[in-house]
Amino acid sequence: MTTTASAQTDAQPAVTVLGLGEMGFALASAFLDGGHPTTVWNRTPEKADALVARGAQRATTVRDAVAAGSLVVVSVKGNATARALLESSGDALAGRAVLNLTDGTSAEVRAVADWAGRQGAQYLHGQIMTIAPAVGGAESVVFYGGSDAVYDRFQPTLRLIGGRGALIAADAGIPALYGMAVHDTMWGALNGFLHAAALLSSEGIEVKRFLDDAAPSLSALLAFLPMTADEVDRGAYATEYGALQHHRPSLEDLVRESEARNIDAAFPGYTLGLVNKAVEEGHAKDSYARLVEHFRKR
Ligand SMILES: NC(=O)c1ccc[n+]([C@@H]2O[C@H](COP(=O)([O-])OP(=O)(O)OC[C@H]3O[C@@H](n4cnc5c(N)ncnc54)[C@H](OP(=O)(O)O)[C@@H]3O)[C@@H](O)[C@H]2O)c1
Repeated sequence: MTTTASAQTDAQPAVTVLGLGEMGFALASAFLDGGHPTTVWNRTPEKADALVARGAQRATTVRDAVAAGSLVVVSVKGNATARALLESSGDALAGRAVLNLTDGTSAEVRAVADWAGRQGAQYLHGQIMTIAPAVGGAESVVFYGGSDAVYDRFQPTLRLIGGRGALIAADAGIPALYGMAVHDTMWGALNGFLHAAALLSSEGIEVKRFLDDAAPSLSALLAFLPMTADEVDRGAYATEYGALQHHRPSLEDLVRESEARNIDAAFPGYTLGLVNKAVEEGHAKDSYARLVEHFRKR
């Protein structure tokens, strides 16, 4: 069935998608599959062809696209581009709901939010925590920040993006920080794991076998996070067990083992450097969470 923007209902509001890259295309597909009248615009118009064949309306200008949607979704490369596109829609933006799903820093996102607010738009930012093929998945996470009115009004539409969407703040910049915090944790953990994998494979040990054998130790790491978070929130690092002074010898062993195997020791060496500095500054008996103060000082 071909749907048009004029077929708007409360349950299935007309949605506009600006930007049909890998993510924007997946989003527009999800809205179409969800039965929404969907209007699309992309700088390279041909990228809309497959969506138009499935019933989407192709807008030839950003202004026309914005004018067709109750909810205007933006998914492009960079927030300077997101804002420039919205700006080119002129007064068509006033009174509309904007959902910006374009990644950037918290300051970049806030700048778009503030500007859109001044144009009379209601603004919601979303940080999508999944890859394009997982859009719409029941477990796909989206962190939202901004207008609770937009979040509430478009709930059924937002669920088409990800089943685990949550409004976490009225501040549109916070979802960007949440996303970065997840990635920061992920890259730190993955770098440690890959360094360990290099160490293991230099001995001919299958990394998968190690994973099976060491599963209890590795899953205990996640259980360690709430305690660490609590210590950071309270700024209190006193501990009876597992103090920094006890981490140091294990780190020294890891650095020496790496060097002996001709494996780059820079990553554990960096960690050892942090621990040494904290110990030298008199924090030997503090918990590992004390190291957050090192990052704060920079
Ligand atoms: N892909 C993912 O799995 C994923 C996951 C989470 C979040 N995201 C976020 O989603 C957003 C879009 O990512 P993507 O993967 O879809 O990127 P992409 O595949 O590289 O597509 C980029 C999009 O931005 C448009 N664009 C770039 N510069 C433009 C300009 N100057 N004027 C107008 N349009 C311009 C492109 O238009 P053209 O087609 O004309 O080049 C295209 O629609 C990003 O913020 C990304 O971080 C993506």
